[in-house]
Amino acid sequence: MAEALSPERPIDAPAVDPSGAGAVGLGREEVLVLDFGGQYSQLIARRLRECGVFAELLPHDTDLERIRLRSPKALVLSGGPASVYETAAPALRTELLELGIPVLGICYGMQVMVQALGGRVEAAARGEFGRTELALVDEGGRLMAGLPATQQCWMSHRDCVYEAPSGFSALASSPGSPVAACEDPGRGLYGIQFHPEVVHTPHGQAILERFLREIVGCEEHWSAASVIGEQVERIRAQVGAGGVICGLSGGVDSATAAALVHEAVGDQLTCVLVDHGLLRKGEAEQVVETFREGLGITLVHVDARRRFLDRLAGVDEPERKRKVIGEEFIRVFEEEARRLPDVNFLVQGTLYSDVIESGGGTGAATIKSHHNVGGLPEDLDLELVEPLRMLFKDEVRAVASELGLSDRMVWRQPFPGPGLAIRIVGGEVNEERLEILREADAVLQEEVRAAGLYRDLWQSFCVLPVVRSVGVQGDGRTYAYPVVIRAVTSDDAMTADWARLPYDLLERASSRIINEVPGVNRVALDISSKPPATIEWE
Ligand code: XMP
Repeated sequence: MAEALSPERPIDAPAVDPSGAGAVGLGREEVLVLDFGGQYSQLIARRLRECGVFAELLPHDTDLERIRLRSPKALVLSGGPASVYETAAPALRTELLELGIPVLGICYGMQVMVQALGGRVEAAARGEFGRTELALVDEGGRLMAGLPATQQCWMSHRDCVYEAPSGFSALASSPGSPVAACEDPGRGLYGIQFHPEVVHTPHGQAILERFLREIVGCEEHWSAASVIGEQVERIRAQVGAGGVICGLSGGVDSATAAALVHEAVGDQLTCVLVDHGLLRKGEAEQVVETFREGLGITLVHVDARRRFLDRLAGVDEPERKRKVIGEEFIRVFEEEARRLPDVNFLVQGTLYSDVIESGGGTGAATIKSHHNVGGLPEDLDLELVEPLRMLFKDEVRAVASELGLSDRMVWRQPFPGPGLAIRIVGGEVNEERLEILREADAVLQEEVRAAGLYRDLWQSFCVLPVVRSVGVQGDGRTYAYPVVIRAVTSDDAMTADWARLPYDLLERASSRIINEVPGVNRVALDISSKPPATIEWE
């Protein structure tokens, strides 16, 4: 993952940085997290931001001069899968420890620091994985002062620190880690073997908070909402008097990006909603209402339902469905863009997690499928405006709320770009099946919301397998579709668990779907986790 990050372009810089700020810091207090490839690296940055300090993730081998130019208040070295002894293991440049900036190493980040400074790191007979009891030494030193003498933490390591480098003192130990935390306050160097960023370390956030406030001395209170003013200025500087176009998907990211751009340049923005007929019940209308009536944004609502249905006829194979939808989407969007005079900019709701995952590069590499189902209309030659590039999903929600978007929009569950098409499984998408799925899904949404569970679920939806089974209704036999309820909890969609929905909710949803939706005689529940299943069926 480390290679995927780009040191060339700071995350909060637009595709073309009109301020010319380049990689120089923006004058705010910030912490740089150097990524050694750990699975929780992003989470570290999120947790630091939750402490009210802006944090950005950079590859561990980011050019030293670039790091210096940013003038970070502190560096955090992330965990990583390597062992410090492997020849290919990502090394720590000791110059980083001599910049006069406090450094906190986490897991591999601590091991690599300890090794570089002459401490003893060795493979343990057995690693420590999962919940582990931690005992403080000397009341936790500076880093862990004031915390309980014994506490739980989350470990995930095989190598282990046996001796801290000279000048360091040990702060804690665990059954498998003689030195589970250490520090050399004189040099501003701190290390912890466990993961303070995961919820299974109950005092983890307090440790990060203490590091940032007491040790590093951060004073400002960054919040996602404070980004609004800054982004409005940047958008104005980038766009000037140009025309801007934004495709709305109905989701919170594109909606928030559009609302921010509207705040910055008002009527220079035109939004386009391509209604491909694969949205949920009432969603297109809701977007039109929110944007046109609620926010006073110019919105072109393109009814392309027939076009999509025609192109989807006879297409059974899921990847083919996605491709057809993606291609048609671009075609419709391009047609609309060409109709508008003087459009030079395209708004994208690209998030920080997309930037990291997709290489942090420029332009097309960062396209998010659920905004522009399948890609960017390249030959339109539009410059990207990406005001959410620095934000995590939960931070976008805070910005959306601050900008006055409705709760319904702010808290909308993720929805795939190809929409209901990938939930009609094993057969073509046609009007009849879409109608059944849309109605069944609407019932489920209603029941989930009524039970107050909508926000607790990552996603909840219905799937329509294209098979029929026998049932009995009144005096007659039926031969109709089953509907499958899929509801999952998740933090990031990488893994997911099936949601334990209450029986009475399931019962109501089932009986309502069967009674109210013609063509359905059976409701089933998907009780698979991801992995090995996925969230969507196709
Ligand atoms: P899976 O099914 O892979 O889904 O567990 C993970 C997350 O991605 C969403 N998803 C998609 N989003 N286009 C999208 O924009 C797609 O083709 C697509 N397929 C899955 C899914 O809803 C879940 O949030």
